[in-house]
Amino acid sequence: MILAALFFVPLGCVQKRLVTNTRGGYYNGMVVCAYPDAAKVGIDILKKGGNAVDAAVAVQFALAVSYPDAGNIGGGGFMVYRSKTGETNTLDFREKGPAGASANMYLDAAGNVIPNMSLYTHKASGVPGSVDGMVQAHQKYGKIKWADLVQPAIDLARNGFKITKPFAYELNHLKAQIEKLNPGKTYLIKDAEWHEGDILVQEDLAKTLEQIRDKGREGFYDGIVADQIVAEIKTGDGLISKADLQNYHSVWRKAVIGNYKGYKIITMPPPSSGGIALLQLLQSVEKYPLKRWGYNQDSTVRLIVEAERRVYADRSKYFGDPDFYKVPVDSLLKPAYISSRMSNFSWDAATPSSSIQPGTFAGYESDQTTHYSIVDHEGNAVSITTTLNDSYGSKIFVKGAGFLLNNEMDDFSSKPGVPNMYGLVGGKANSIQPGKRMLSSMTPTIVEKDGKLFMVVGTPGGSTIITSVFQTIINVIEFGQDMQQAVASKRFHHQWLPDEIAAEKGALDSLTTIKLQSKGYKINNRRGIGRVDAILKTTQGYQGGADPRGDDTKLGY
Ligand code: DON
Repeated sequence: MILAALFFVPLGCVQKRLVTNTRGGYYNGMVVCAYPDAAKVGIDILKKGGNAVDAAVAVQFALAVSYPDAGNIGGGGFMVYRSKTGETNTLDFREKGPAGASANMYLDAAGNVIPNMSLYTHKASGVPGSVDGMVQAHQKYGKIKWADLVQPAIDLARNGFKITKPFAYELNHLKAQIEKLNPGKTYLIKDAEWHEGDILVQEDLAKTLEQIRDKGREGFYDGIVADQIVAEIKTGDGLISKADLQNYHSVWRKAVIGNYKGYKIITMPPPSSGGIALLQLLQSVEKYPLKRWGYNQDSTVRLIVEAERRVYADRSKYFGDPDFYKVPVDSLLKPAYISSRMSNFSWDAATPSSSIQPGTFAGYESDQTTHYSIVDHEGNAVSITTTLNDSYGSKIFVKGAGFLLNNEMDDFSSKPGVPNMYGLVGGKANSIQPGKRMLSSMTPTIVEKDGKLFMVVGTPGGSTIITSVFQTIINVIEFGQDMQQAVASKRFHHQWLPDEIAAEKGALDSLTTIKLQSKGYKINNRRGIGRVDAILKTTQGYQGGADPRGDDTKLGY
């Protein structure tokens, strides 16, 4: 449908008249992220001439204020970058285990995992990476002054902003837990219930952000904010020290790059498991006629589930922080290996997960996060997923500093074979070590076609991140869905263990469900899988996909 809006777009010095329509229409840039106020901050930066990295930095800080569920300065994340000329890079600002961390730190004397210790205690936090990540990204690619990128977040925190209905619901729902974990303190809670349209003001956070605005990295990893973090950690006998903070540095890593039917997939290397797993999934299904079978029809679902089962089995053994553990990236992505993994897949019956183990190679020794996608007027693209791990992280906030601590330590394997909060199991590759980064599923990704930008995509969702990014990509490439549809379409997920398909209500029609069940597939319905925020470049401009499962917002110009 054509919307009758006409507007002028600067194209170098030429003014070009354009027509917007629902299939695209934004030729200069776009921001898609989890909260409307943060999307507005990002698009304003783009309109002022900032590039995609400038907008990303501003959005990261604005989300830390407006979306404390997952937006953060106390967490970490990954960035995948593609310049207008096709240069690629990735930034790993994932949290690290503190120097005092050790392999068995969450086990009792009998060797059992102590419930919730890696989740809701002061020992659950890894050393935060987000602020250093933003500083690094800005130093390398930014154009606009640092202070001007942090200021909008300070304004949001100090002046307040209107909260949405889901946000109000969440705050009311979390009240008891926040009070219990933060006795005698107030942050995000008040005596009365929160309602849609209430104004949330965060003065402590505004002051913390001012430190970051004025001192950059040192405003967080040193000085008053660092002292506040260490003081808070000490109250709960946690591990993060001043030295841990000062020693934190994010790392530029080479993107992992794969190919699917001529589309170039640019994605995150370890310590994300997501990039490699995504490429394994795409390769596993590439030779099959998904388009002919159709979206979420039984053959499509069965093939994808069998591929996912095998890929997640590999994830449990071979993935960890590459600075500590040699992840066999090349072996995992070899076409012959992928074919051999899929060779025992049968159309007669589901393969029981108990009969699938991580693969073997010759020569090998042995719900919250948030994603934002941005494209600027030059065509530079940024795909960032960032997290505190659980919704509102450990739910413990730094007294006086107004922000939440992550509980990312739960992403390590506390004990071989014992599932973490997402049901993921791991072993040696992802064991806890000082200074090591915990394995992640975050999969910020950029897709290229014929040497040009095609899609920017990513999502939260714990273990379901990888499969949600995968499904979004094939929804567009195979099933011809536009970006919004591809993001909104119902999703399903399998992760080897537990041996079941998790499906959103309505993802599988009744006939497909019966067919799958008759072949031995167990199906469990669950609430929203993923919150994908993505951008597609079309011949009619940028087309956004903002996940309707949340307050996600797309703004273009
Ligand atoms: O890095 C990871 O894989 C997890 N900490 C991500 C957590 C997440 O996506 C939660 N969102 N629902």
